[in-house]
Amino acid sequence: MYRYIGNKSKLLDYIIGKTKDIIGKSGTVADIMAGTGMVSLEYRKNGYNVIASDMMTYSKCHLITNLLNSKSPEFKNLTSLKIAGMSMYESILAYLNNLEGTEGYFYNEFSPEGIPNNGYPPRKYFTSKNAKKIDAIRQELENWIQNKKINSNEEAVLKHTLIMAVNKVANISGTYGYFLSKFTKNSIEDIFLEPQEFCNIGSTNNKVMQGFAEDVAKNIKADLCYIDPPYTKRQYAANYHILETIARGDNPIAQGKSGLRDWWDQHSKFCTKTRIRDSFKKVIKDMDCPCFLISYSEDGLLSINELVDFLEQFGETTVSTIDYKRFRSNQSELPNKIQEYIIELYK
Ligand SMILES: C[S@@+](CC[C@H](N)C(=O)[O-])C[C@H]1O[C@@H](n2cnc3c(N)ncnc32)[C@H](O)[C@@H]1O
Repeated sequence: MYRYIGNKSKLLDYIIGKTKDIIGKSGTVADIMAGTGMVSLEYRKNGYNVIASDMMTYSKCHLITNLLNSKSPEFKNLTSLKIAGMSMYESILAYLNNLEGTEGYFYNEFSPEGIPNNGYPPRKYFTSKNAKKIDAIRQELENWIQNKKINSNEEAVLKHTLIMAVNKVANISGTYGYFLSKFTKNSIEDIFLEPQEFCNIGSTNNKVMQGFAEDVAKNIKADLCYIDPPYTKRQYAANYHILETIARGDNPIAQGKSGLRDWWDQHSKFCTKTRIRDSFKKVIKDMDCPCFLISYSEDGLLSINELVDFLEQFGETTVSTIDYKRFRSNQSELPNKIQEYIIELYK
């Protein structure tokens, strides 16, 4: 499973149930902090048209794969790679899985045999063998993009597939904020691109966007908007920097001991106590939408009372409380159970 801070895979039934109670079984739903895309996908499966967005590029890859496809893409310009008995997608993954590793950016910046550019000691996010394989796959994808061998949908599907494989072998405890000193059992396995499932339920008449919720809100018209903001100061751009680099296909300067890319352009105001209210205000005011479902948590920067007191100026609110299993990194000593809240706001 995708270990993503705030991932709502366990609350899907609840969110869909609430949505059905409010707008019925059809309509347009926006999910403007969509992350892994699990909530958006569930909306699609339940018959809604979905407008999904997030500020992160890797999220866009997940959203395109889950919302705009109902089967694997055709890869029309790569038919020379077709293997008998396999689909084009499977043939391409077989080809990429068989590439010879190369000593590129991931090898140098994120593996123990590499020599980081900034003079810091080698990092251990991946075994050297896996880092070389990731480099080879990234280079081939960039080559295909430059030479117009794959279109933007095919690019997103292949990057989504690579990210899911990378998540399985990353030597981390939950997020990419730092690497572990000893390689874990999973991280010494060879990286392997596995065909991902494509949803054939519901429509592909969905829209995927990328950007700050505060900016995209004015371009959205929906019957209901689900908002799942960050709850704490932990910035997604810092905690998932490696996935962002895979999605962007660039080679940024890897800074400090942990090798983070410069992520200031994706700094979220929802992670700061002083800016979060203005950001909520902009989203709620600017969007053409009568109703918002907002996830929040006991762990949040604001208490539930502070948040509800603030939201009441925009319309009627009700709060439901759900007991939820906390996202924990392996060493965390925080209690296992936590209360999650769903706020309904009618403008
Ligand atoms: C709690 S997570 C959402 C998880 C998602 N519901 C899921 O199930 O995977 C919060 C998301 O908000 C995004 N985010 C944070 N600040 C944002 C902003 N200002 N605009 C758009 N997205 C933002 C993060 O990139 C992250 O993916």
